[in-house]
Amino acid sequence: MDKIEHSRRCNVESLDMSEKKGSVINRRNFIRTSVLGSLGALSYAHWVEPGWLTVTEKEITLPKLPSALDGLVIAQMTDFHFNPDKDEPLIAEAVAAVNSANPDLVALTGDFITDRADVFDPLMSVLAGLKAKHGIYGIMGNHDGWSKNQQFFRNGFQQNGMEFLVNQGTGIRIRGEKLYITGTDSIWSGTVDAPACWRGYTGETVLALVHEPDVFDDLRASHRVDLQLSGHTHGGQCRVPLIGYAPVKVRYGRKYIYGEYAQNDSRIFVSRGLGTVGRRVRFSCAPEVAILTLRSPK
Ligand SMILES: [Fe+2]
Repeated sequence: MDKIEHSRRCNVESLDMSEKKGSVINRRNFIRTSVLGSLGALSYAHWVEPGWLTVTEKEITLPKLPSALDGLVIAQMTDFHFNPDKDEPLIAEAVAAVNSANPDLVALTGDFITDRADVFDPLMSVLAGLKAKHGIYGIMGNHDGWSKNQQFFRNGFQQNGMEFLVNQGTGIRIRGEKLYITGTDSIWSGTVDAPACWRGYTGETVLALVHEPDVFDDLRASHRVDLQLSGHTHGGQCRVPLIGYAPVKVRYGRKYIYGEYAQNDSRIFVSRGLGTVGRRVRFSCAPEVAILTLRSPK
């Protein structure tokens, strides 16, 4: 009996030991897999996604868009934060993507640089390849305004035959219909002067270029805004896959973070932009060129 009891006890003890051993190995495997997965995700977010251009093709219906402007194509590029050592292939690819869409207008909605003004000319030499039937329009971003005054950027635009709109608007005629394009200063690094933006406005469809998206509510409360194009948020720069939650939010970009939003007869589209600020990482939020086709209601 003693021998049998002893043998049973040994079997139970050896079973306990192998279970403990198994759970230690499982824990080690879990930790190893988690560490390798995290390192892989960090490497991907740093080395792969910031250089991975995506082209978003989207139709936006504007409730008051005249039928003559139905089908108008606007290409938007924003938030370059240009780093000439790393970003030139990405921006050249983005320029080629815009040109292949044969746009009517190109909107460049600010943050050309982060803090080094000397990178602006190299960026403009790449952007000089852009083509649009009815013009290329740019505005100030907050980083631009923190680094240089608007005249610095305006000179670069004018030298390349592009318009730079800071608290001013311009009316253009497309297919016999007038379109009013207005551009604001950055609200963070400058002052948004809405009355100046709409000076000379005569009641036509309004395309507003505004770097920081959350200015939208104030502008549309006092003036007609058919479509506002903005950047600034980088779409969050890092988002939770599948659910798209962006944990990091930026001042003046907390309400409208990415994509199209509607408020009464006004629409806003916020692009993820092309560059990065802070650490060079993007996750589930790749650099974007937006090709937007405007539609009038059916
Ligand atoms: Fe930015």
